[in-house]
Amino acid sequence: MQLIDGKIASEAVKTRLAEAVKVLQDKGNRKPCLAAILVGNDGASETYIASKVRTCGQIGFLSNLIRFDAQVSEERLLEEVRKINTDSTIDGLIVQLPLPAHISAEKVILAIDPKKDVDGFHPINMGNLALGLPGFVSATPKGIMMLLEHFNIETAGKNAVIIGRSNIVGTPMSLLLSKNTNPGNCTVTLCHSKTKNLNSFIKQADIVVAALGRPESIVAEDIKEGAVVIDVGITRLDDSSAPKGYRIVGDVDFKNVAPKCSWITPVPGGVGLMTIAALMQNTFTAYLKNIEN
Ligand code: GUN
Repeated sequence: MQLIDGKIASEAVKTRLAEAVKVLQDKGNRKPCLAAILVGNDGASETYIASKVRTCGQIGFLSNLIRFDAQVSEERLLEEVRKINTDSTIDGLIVQLPLPAHISAEKVILAIDPKKDVDGFHPINMGNLALGLPGFVSATPKGIMMLLEHFNIETAGKNAVIIGRSNIVGTPMSLLLSKNTNPGNCTVTLCHSKTKNLNSFIKQADIVVAALGRPESIVAEDIKEGAVVIDVGITRLDDSSAPKGYRIVGDVDFKNVAPKCSWITPVPGGVGLMTIAALMQNTFTAYLKNIEN
């Protein structure tokens, strides 16, 4: 079994970006800038946003965190999005999800200028992905593709089973893995909550992408010997024996699954780190277009 180490791969991306920014800055260009909107104070969202902001600082990007309390109106939020759309000093905008129930995430995403939509959630970017046209790709599936590429993991002709059909992970992942690219060229099966006999699909899989959000639910007996396992899950489980009183686990029962795999991502230290690296890569792409104009 070999570990798909998100730390190694994400550090390589971040180092490359930091060097590229430095070269451009030395030539007189401004820094890349990512704006992030956070509504309310959901614990997981706070953690994700804090790491995105921290990473920007580490690689020489500016960040602009805009916070609203959970009661903010949809109109006020849309107004902020429109303001950022027209701000030429900001290259990328993300609105951290989930949003409170009274705000339509769909409306907010639609309001983001697709050229600044570094999360790749806008229908224009999702449509471009479906058609194989250039555009921003959602950071988690993009990060997984970068991991497969970094570790030279063979994907052509393999059976890939993706568990979870969210707009953010499972659906774009299915498009990416089925494309005629390397990595890619997989035969993809997209499983979800209504899939019958999920285990029978997992047992056939050369590549498993677990994004169902159920901690340690993918078990060793379902995994084919030599499979590649990508774990997108991140759940905090109470654990009084752990120093912080909790431990972070994925959707895969890592301890028992790992010995059967050819490659597997750890949690933490796998996909999560690459999600942030991919977001930074998208922001840099947006920035390059802006400074060229
Ligand atoms: N919530 C969970 N994952 C994400 C993400 O990648 N981007 C945003 N904006 N919100 C999220």
